Amino acid sequence: MLQNKLGITNPVQLAAEEERVTKIAALALYRNGALGALAPGTFSALAAIHAALFGDLYEFAGKVRDVNLAKGGFRFASALYLGSAIKAVECMPQSNLEQIVEKYVEMNIVHPFREGNGRATRIWLDHILRTELAKTVDWSLIDREDYLLAMERSPVRNTEIKALIRGALSDSLDDTTLLARGIDASYAYEGYAAYRAEEL
Ligand SMILES: Nc1ncnc2c1ncn2[C@@H]1O[C@H](COP(=O)(O)OP(=O)(O)OP(=O)(O)O)[C@@H](O)[C@H]1O
Ligand SMILES: [Mg+2]
Repeated sequence: MLQNKLGITNPVQLAAEEERVTKIAALALYRNGALGALAPGTFSALAAIHAALFGDLYEFAGKVRDVNLAKGGFRFASALYLGSAIKAVECMPQSNLEQIVEKYVEMNIVHPFREGNGRATRIWLDHILRTELAKTVDWSLIDREDYLLAMERSPVRNTEIKALIRGALSDSLDDTTLLARGIDASYAYEGYAAYRAEEL
């Protein structure tokens, strides 16, 4: 279990409190204009999103990890090379959907933080899509299993994740119901489903 600023020692209680606190922070990022003020596609934007979500919970919020991470037999970028990997991804173009999803896939391979990469990086992706294409992702339209399989596959072949995201784009940037259900779906991908964003 992760050391946390709340002094919680029960993992079930920590997961619930983390979900509640970070969902409120995620909604606030969109609503108070803080997200819109970030430079889309940069690491500083991703670090700011991560810090906004997790800053009240973990010391490592917004900070590049110094440990190696693996999942489902895939090892994310080595902690030795994170600095140069982050710079390389920042330089990737983001003018159309293909390029933006390719950039998202590469940032996922970087997995810069100790924890919370999935949730923070989906907001980073959404921010790029909003700024560059005036689109938002309605994650509730993408099934959890389909999403996770597509991401597991993405380092080798990105056509599945591109198709899923293309099919879930919306023009309704200011639809608060869409935003809330999208955040709930993004959290459900990672197993967090105790609170509904709309009720927080
Ligand atoms: N085997 C895999 N290969 C590549 N990417 C993966 C794999 N499994 C999951 N992912 C991607 O990584 C994201 C988060 O996974 P992971 O649990 O490693 O991160 P995390 O830091 O714990 O993030 P969170 O706390 O938001 O879940 C997933 O949502 C998915 O996009
Ligand atoms: Mg996690």
